[in-house]
Amino acid sequence: MSSTEHPRTFHVKSFGCQMNVYDGERMAELLTAQGMHAIDAREDADLVVLNTCHIRERATEKVYSDIGRLRREDGTTPLIAVAGCVAQAEGAEIMARAPSVRVVVGPQAYHRLPQMVAAAAAGGRETETDMPAEAKFAALPRRRKSGPTAFLTIQEGCDKFCTYCVVPYTRGAEISRPYADLVDEAHALVDGGAREITLLGQNVNAWTGEDGAGRAVGLAGLAQALAAIPDLARIRYTTSHPADMDDALIEAHASNPKLMPFLHLPVQSGSDRVLKAMNRSHTAQSYLDLIARVRAARPDIALSGDFIVGFPGETEAEFADTLALIDAVGYAQAFSFKYSARPGTPAADMPGHIAADVMDDRLQALQARINRDQLAFNQASLGRRCSVLVERRGRQAGQWLGKSPWLQSVHFTDEVAVGDLVEVDLIEAGPNSLAGRRVG
Ligand code: 5AD
Ligand code: SF4
Repeated sequence: MSSTEHPRTFHVKSFGCQMNVYDGERMAELLTAQGMHAIDAREDADLVVLNTCHIRERATEKVYSDIGRLRREDGTTPLIAVAGCVAQAEGAEIMARAPSVRVVVGPQAYHRLPQMVAAAAAGGRETETDMPAEAKFAALPRRRKSGPTAFLTIQEGCDKFCTYCVVPYTRGAEISRPYADLVDEAHALVDGGAREITLLGQNVNAWTGEDGAGRAVGLAGLAQALAAIPDLARIRYTTSHPADMDDALIEAHASNPKLMPFLHLPVQSGSDRVLKAMNRSHTAQSYLDLIARVRAARPDIALSGDFIVGFPGETEAEFADTLALIDAVGYAQAFSFKYSARPGTPAADMPGHIAADVMDDRLQALQARINRDQLAFNQASLGRRCSVLVERRGRQAGQWLGKSPWLQSVHFTDEVAVGDLVEVDLIEAGPNSLAGRRVG
């Protein structure tokens, strides 16, 4: 492709969180609406969008090595666009360091991608890192096709300023998308084939809006409205902050049968000193009290969390408090990370950075507990009869894979199709999945 030709094919590669996956899908829809075609082989694409993540280490280095790998044997490159949080945080530097990058677009500005690509194809280099997110959503095309499970971003940005985290800087201030737009997008996803929708936000349970009658509603109210869509069977949401877990949302886990019994509620640490230094608004005990209230509403709820080991100054005793909290909760699954200093965040300048080998040991010890509890949770599910939403074929002939209400992977053998919601008995449990037998 010469620099004056408009690209005909594209490939979007998303790194990081589910919100980036959602953004990547929306970018693909925008480009498709311009008459371009998505292809899997990125070496053949005229346009490659690298939709980047900045949350932990080496994200930026990964972007540069990815850019380098896009150079073809004949020395040409596709038209390269860098999107996402690295673009937001380091756009100017990328433009200076990587001449083959022709477009830099932040996560709140990607509705402008088609114009920017056109300008770049005509020989320019384009940067857009403005922050207001409302304009973006209004400018995106209506959704058409969907798999059985779909993401729907309802809220973006974060005002919490945990001291380790870049999100408030890369995604900007908290904004909630309007209720009517979300109900409309959910209908479009269901019309396009979705049976399960996961509502997304950096602080998804901080979402607020006004319903059709002008009443203020929170996430519980939105979930209730979506539950009225007949062909939508399941609603999930992620990621929640403990501070925004209000009574209505807890109660919804008891009263809204389409709200799945799963809650991802990051705690980060079990030490009150560390939690305070992280600027988390909860203590270990207030978090455990909250979990108790959620469990009172929905006793079978599966709990998930995020943990950071080796936050600056974390002592062995403080780390032991985290292990104790894990024991007290009994997570069904969890994500854990070694602390990574992010430029510009307060924690990066705190004293007491932890040696790499200590971090490794702590991460291993923590993951051993989580794995133990995950297996225990799966084993405790044996004998349960539950629904499974069929997502794809398994590796063996006749085998299908889907998710239980508790977000466990379940495999079984029968004649079904993607998108079917089937009843199974859970008959075998491993650490990462369960075997089911179709009922009837
Ligand atoms: N270092 C390590 N982990 C981090 N997270 C966010 N920022 C950092 C960081 N600087 C983790 C938190 C958060 C998850 C999305 O990523 O656990 O909940
Ligand atoms: Fe980052 Fe904390 Fe906001 Fe989560 S709540 S996105 S960890 S600042």
